Amino acid sequence: MKEISLHILDIMQNSVAANASLIELEVIEDVEQDILSFKVTDNGKGMSEEMIAKVIDPFTTGRTTRKVGLGIPLTKAAAEMTGGYIKITSKPGEGTVFFALFGYSHIDRQPLGDMAQTMHQIITSFEDVDFIYRHVINGKEFLLDTREIKKILGGVSLKENDVSLWIYEYLKEGEKEIALK
Ligand SMILES: Nc1ncnc2c1ncn2[C@@H]1O[C@H](COP(=O)(O)OP(=O)(O)OP(=O)(O)O)[C@@H](O)[C@H]1O
Ligand SMILES: [Mg+2]
Repeated sequence: MKEISLHILDIMQNSVAANASLIELEVIEDVEQDILSFKVTDNGKGMSEEMIAKVIDPFTTGRTTRKVGLGIPLTKAAAEMTGGYIKITSKPGEGTVFFALFGYSHIDRQPLGDMAQTMHQIITSFEDVDFIYRHVINGKEFLLDTREIKKILGGVSLKENDVSLWIYEYLKEGEKEIALK
């Protein structure tokens, strides 16, 4: 995987698969503290402690009775390669928080990638799920809450061409604004 946004997409897809109805993503870039982090919080089915250990380290923890997932181990490897780490906090029946931290200036840090495209893709793919997206670059914040958008749209599908394009442009514009020096 070449971009952090692809890890983020994978982690959010895990939340969708866990039947979350609300997924919160926070991406923070802080040059001064030299960190890039992302946090995905969901209200999906959650995981036990034992399950968390297994999904973080599927090859050494327990016998695998099914296909080994790679989304989490790959994200962990990408973070650790930069002196960072991942942390999963979860409660069965309540939800999960997935946190990943990367060394911002580390030579091996993957580029963040296209967050506007990533968010657009997941928002329009899973219309029944609500997303709160927050991206902070050196203190400048962009926020998008699909619950607000859906309220305004009053039942019109996010997949509708005009709506889909508007969401994309809105995301692009927001990303551009916080990226300005
Ligand atoms: N947010 C979550 N809530 C509940 N369970 C989760 C969550 N994230 C991951 N899991 C569990 O951890 C497993 C491993 O996740 P991982 O992303 O590593 O692999 P995968 O999704 O199974 O497969 P892949 O990502 O390679 O397509 C998932 O199959 C799921 O059972
Ligand atoms: Mg996955």
